[in-house]
Amino acid sequence: MLLKNFKPFSSYFKNLNFNPVRKMSFVPRKKFNNGLEIPALGLGTYKEENEAVLIEAVKSALRCGYRHIDSAPVYYNELPVGHGIREAISESQGSLKREDIFITSKCWCTFFSKEKVPICFDKTLSNLGMDYLDLYLIHWPMGFKENEGFYPEDANGKVIPSDVHYLETYKAMEELVKNGKAKSIGVSNFNIKQLQDILDHCEIKPVCNQFEVHPFLQNDELVDFCQKNEITVVAYAPLGAPDRSWSKPEDPKVLENQIIQELADKYKKTPGQIILRWLVQRDIVVIPKSVNPGRIEENSKIFDFKLNDDDMYAFKNIKEQFRYYSFDECDNHPQYPF
Ligand SMILES: NC(=O)c1ccc[n+]([C@@H]2O[C@H](COP(=O)([O-])OP(=O)(O)OC[C@H]3O[C@@H](n4cnc5c(N)ncnc54)[C@H](OP(=O)(O)O)[C@@H]3O)[C@@H](O)[C@H]2O)c1
Repeated sequence: MLLKNFKPFSSYFKNLNFNPVRKMSFVPRKKFNNGLEIPALGLGTYKEENEAVLIEAVKSALRCGYRHIDSAPVYYNELPVGHGIREAISESQGSLKREDIFITSKCWCTFFSKEKVPICFDKTLSNLGMDYLDLYLIHWPMGFKENEGFYPEDANGKVIPSDVHYLETYKAMEELVKNGKAKSIGVSNFNIKQLQDILDHCEIKPVCNQFEVHPFLQNDELVDFCQKNEITVVAYAPLGAPDRSWSKPEDPKVLENQIIQELADKYKKTPGQIILRWLVQRDIVVIPKSVNPGRIEENSKIFDFKLNDDDMYAFKNIKEQFRYYSFDECDNHPQYPF
C-alpha cells in the first residue's frame, strides 16, 4: 500500500520544478600550458539556429554534466547559447555557477585587424551575456575584407581576402588576456607552418588548436605537432558532421563505418561513443554537437570504458579519407590552411 503511493524522486523534482544540476561533473579536465583547465568534453553548437531548441540543448547538456560549450559569432546563435547557460545557472538554485562552465568563442575572419578584434570580442560577450570568456580562438587563419558582412565574395563566389595577417589578430588577442577579458587564447584550423609562426612570434603561447579530427581525417602529424608543443587539440566534427547542409549522397559517413560498428557491438556502445572515446584516448578534447537530449547524454557516456590497445590500433585500418570542412570558397586565400 505504501509502495503503491510511493513516487520516484524524479516526480518530486518535477512538481517542485527543481532542477538537479550536478554540482560536480564527471567529465575529466585537461591542463593547458598556462595551468588553466578545459573539460575533455564540450557541447558543439554549430548549425542549430532554432533558438528554443538550442536553449533546451544547452540546459540539457549542463544538467547531465557537461561544463564546456563551444560557440562562435558566425554560428548566428550566441544569443540562445548564452540564454541557455544563464537559465541553467539560475534554475540550478546555486549548484551551478558561471565559473563552473568553460565557454569558448572565436574571432571571425572579417574582424582580423587590431581595431576590429575587441569589437568582435565585445559583441560576443554581450550576445552571450557574460563578462569574460574562458577561451577565445582565431576561427580560421585567413583575414577577409572587412565591413562587407561575414562572407565578402567576388563574382566567382570566392572569398575576398584582406591583407591583415593573423599575427596582427593574435597580438590583439593577447591584449584580451592581459586585461582579463579572456582567460586563454588559441587558434583554430591552423596548419603546422602557421602554428610555428605563432609560436615564433607570440608573447602568450596559444593553449589550443581546434581542427577537424575523426576516423576519416586522423590528422596524426598535426596532432603530434600540437601535443609536442603543449598545444591542446580540440576535435571538431568528431562524428563527421552529418547535419552539414553541403553533404553529398556519395560522401562517406563516419558513423556507418564497419570497423567502428564492430567495435560498438563489442563494447556495447554506439558508434558515436566509440569514436569519441578513441579521440579522448588520444588525449584530444571533443565537442560533439547535438540538440537531442538522448544523444547529448549518450555522447557524455564515454568515460566509463576504455578501448584496448588493439582496438585503438584498429582505427589505423580505416582506409577512407575525407575532410567534411574544406571551406573551398577560400582556397584562393594566401593563408588557406589545407
Ligand atoms: N573551429 C571550426 O572551424 C569548427 C568547424 C566546425 C565545427 N566546429 C565546432 O565543432 C562542433 C562539432 O562539429 P559539427 O557540429 O560540425 O559535427 P559533429 O559534432 O561531428 O556532428 C553533429 C551531428 O551529429 C549528430 N549526432 C550527435 N551525436 C550523435 C550520436 N551519438 N549518434 C549519431 N548522431 C549524432 C547531430 O544530430 P543531433 O543534433 O540531431 O543529435 C548532428 O547532426 C560544432 O558544433 C562547432 O561547435 C568548429
